[in-house]
Amino acid sequence: MSAARAITLGEYLVENQEMFPYAKGELTALLSAIRLAAKVVNREINKAGIADILGATDDDNVQGERQMKLDVYANDVFIKALRQRGEVAGVASEELEDFIAFTDPIHSNAKYIVAMDPLDGSSNVDVNVSIGTIFSIYRRVTPVGTPVQLEDFLQPGSAQVAAGYVIYGSSTILVYTTGHGVHGFTLDPSLGTFLLSHESIRMPERGVIYSINEGNYVHFPDGVKRYIKYCQELDPATDRPYTSRYIGSLVSDFHRNMLKGGIYIYPTGTKSPKGKLRLLYECNPLAFIAEQAGGRATDGFQRILDIKPEELHQRVPYFAGSTAMVLEAEGFLRG
Ligand code: AHG
Ligand code: MN
Ligand code: MN
Repeated sequence: MSAARAITLGEYLVENQEMFPYAKGELTALLSAIRLAAKVVNREINKAGIADILGATDDDNVQGERQMKLDVYANDVFIKALRQRGEVAGVASEELEDFIAFTDPIHSNAKYIVAMDPLDGSSNVDVNVSIGTIFSIYRRVTPVGTPVQLEDFLQPGSAQVAAGYVIYGSSTILVYTTGHGVHGFTLDPSLGTFLLSHESIRMPERGVIYSINEGNYVHFPDGVKRYIKYCQELDPATDRPYTSRYIGSLVSDFHRNMLKGGIYIYPTGTKSPKGKLRLLYECNPLAFIAEQAGGRATDGFQRILDIKPEELHQRVPYFAGSTAMVLEAEGFLRG
């Protein structure tokens, strides 16, 4: 350890409570629940290779995708951890068709709702590739003390009060924003503690990485096809050709591009006509973080955070990353 003082996530939250726009202590409690759940899920993921937890369950999730057992496990752990806190009035999850309203006596004063992707990149679980959890936090809009309603979850991303993700990778990192920059904490496994490792992350204005599933090329809109060709062209003055990197875990692809500079694209026109990624618990939280780090996130035409959601599991096309690169890609889309 360097001479600099090691700062734990818990200390950082307490010392920076003014970063949360509402009552002191609420964010600390809420993020404590997420921090605890992340450690539990991390432990389980690290055991995945030796425990009898690999393989698909018999159920498909609400979007007809195969659920791995760890999706179900992570979903349960996060919901339990959030339910035990008096701050959260309800949760929406990729793994649940409908949202859950928490209505125990401890929730009678709960002001927040959480939307989450408990396990992102689940196809990578059984091949030891980085996966993650993504979360998004809002103030409820219906009266405190009543069960949460759909409208509490269908707020535009610009109303988020906090968002973040955890990556279970070569190391485990928790990254969050409350609208005052983006901060990352790496888990020290020997201590079981998240330590401040990335304060005030800034996304480079441009980079040389483009991340897109090119296997779907034939389905892409013409503008995206042209942009891909642009990325592959030789032009030393603009560092092209760019480098192609695609993990297949959105959260990991996003994190790499945020640190190194790059663009992530999941466009329309694949087998999923509206794009694949989900607005509430994949695109919005990462868009909030992208903007807070100086980056940009759009559906190709419109700011992601300005979209008014119409349904819980709504899908949108997604262009996120270094501002100059996202602007460039948008230019190709407009023709
Ligand atoms: P999830 O595991 O939560 O269902 O999310 C998978 C998503 C995202 O993480 C990833 O970037 C994308 O699906 C990959 O899709 P393709 O395999 O179609 O490229
Ligand atoms: Mn996902
Ligand atoms: Mn998932």
